[in-house]
Amino acid sequence: MNQFNLPKPPQTFSALEKKCEEIGFTMPSDSEVGALLRTLVASKPSGNILELGTGIGLSLSWMADGLDQNSQLTSVDNDPKLINIVNEFFGEDSRINIICGDGAEWIQKHQSEKFDLIFSDAWPGKYSELDEVLAMVKTGGFYIIDDMKPHPNWPEGHAEKAANLMQKLESLPNFVITQMDWSTGVVVATKTKV
Ligand SMILES: C[S@@+](CC[C@H](N)C(=O)[O-])C[C@H]1O[C@@H](n2cnc3c(N)ncnc32)[C@H](O)[C@@H]1O
Repeated sequence: MNQFNLPKPPQTFSALEKKCEEIGFTMPSDSEVGALLRTLVASKPSGNILELGTGIGLSLSWMADGLDQNSQLTSVDNDPKLINIVNEFFGEDSRINIICGDGAEWIQKHQSEKFDLIFSDAWPGKYSELDEVLAMVKTGGFYIIDDMKPHPNWPEGHAEKAANLMQKLESLPNFVITQMDWSTGVVVATKTKV
């Protein structure tokens, strides 16, 4: 039988997890998706990475761990309390740019910027501004989302929205997508042409 070892978490991981419990943040990305993101970020030397939905910084901690010295990572969240916490952990890292602001507005203002990997973990860039965000992925770059498996916390009507999003992603002529019934339900999409 194959042996699947748990991925070694980033250095900041346990302190962030503690903080998460302390403030009662219930929406952090899990370690499976974190480890996947770290691997994919590491596949992009000198990469330009975007995260929409910084949260408590758990997915950010995994991505930062895969980031080389010449890469840049921008992470956007509209909650100042969370951004303050995340700044305590990553504010000194010159590769990481943490933005407090509305994701939709940020996307509109940065349409001309292109990214090697976008992890969309907030409403904007997933259930809104999807076309705009997909246009910001470089050819050969990744667009990644999680939380696609039905969850008891989903409000009424969300399952339909998730199904529509999946259908839209499947129909894109310039992305090759893989849906994974794993972790919280992950989609990895790679852009093949503009
Ligand atoms: C699923 S959580 C992100 C979790 C994060 N990846 C982590 O590992 O901690 C979604 C985040 O999106 C943020 N958010 C919600 N609406 C937003 C908006 N319009 N613009 C920017 N961020 C938003 C929330 O504050 C929340 O932190």
